[in-house]
Amino acid sequence: MEIYVVPDAPATGVVAAGILAAVVRSKPNAILGVATGSSPIPVYEALAAHDLDMSQLRTFALDEYVGLPAGHPQSYAEVVRREVTERLGLDPARVAVPDGGAGDPHEAAVNYDSAIREAGGIDVQLLGIGHNGHIAFNEPGSELDSRTRVEVLADRTRQANARYFRSLDDVPTRCITQGLGTILEARQLLMVVRGADKAEVLAAALSGPVSPECPGSVLQLHPHVTVVADQAAATHLDAFRQVTLQVATPSA
Ligand code: GLP
Repeated sequence: MEIYVVPDAPATGVVAAGILAAVVRSKPNAILGVATGSSPIPVYEALAAHDLDMSQLRTFALDEYVGLPAGHPQSYAEVVRREVTERLGLDPARVAVPDGGAGDPHEAAVNYDSAIREAGGIDVQLLGIGHNGHIAFNEPGSELDSRTRVEVLADRTRQANARYFRSLDDVPTRCITQGLGTILEARQLLMVVRGADKAEVLAAALSGPVSPECPGSVLQLHPHVTVVADQAAATHLDAFRQVTLQVATPSA
């Protein structure tokens, strides 16, 4: 596992985007797994500044709420359209998000899992981590070999995501999420973490027991993991050899 520690959130974006850009340069038709949440935003901002031909890329998002009306600004389909597809100038036909509006979301989940496999699998999967250790929307209790499926969101996750909605009541209760087993099939995992509030859960994920109680702990099962953390998030990672990078960011 490689751990890069950088001064702040914009620097996490610069370093992670550099890793993604190298993949795209060596494989212009790469398949990227994209994530929502606040942590990956600096990555997309920094990647957009690279002079790259991204016309052949395909992307698969990690997850989606079930039951939001089509076009809802906080649906992950819309978040991905704004933050990824438009920002990077990707071909919308090559950007996939689970269909949270499907009549049968269970079937949509199974089809999504198959679509990833049929596309040849994800080259690099970008990940954040939630305060309870969730990755994508795999909440504590998720099986380590779980596939893409419909899940019920934990109260803590709904509370954390209520900041994007008018009220907690507006946050959906269900989602479609790539499973932990699905995520582990990506050829590289790239986790981006920032903030002191993530320090404990990051250490638990990387050095605690591998357990469904901390879904992020599956990173320990993968042979090619890169973590990019800001200093605040990295304070509990003493057990690891870390590479500290001084990074010039646009705001620095
Ligand atoms: C969300 C997403 C996850 C994300 C996590 C943390 O619920 N489904 O993919 O990693 O929460 O988000 P943030 O980076 O904003 O803390």
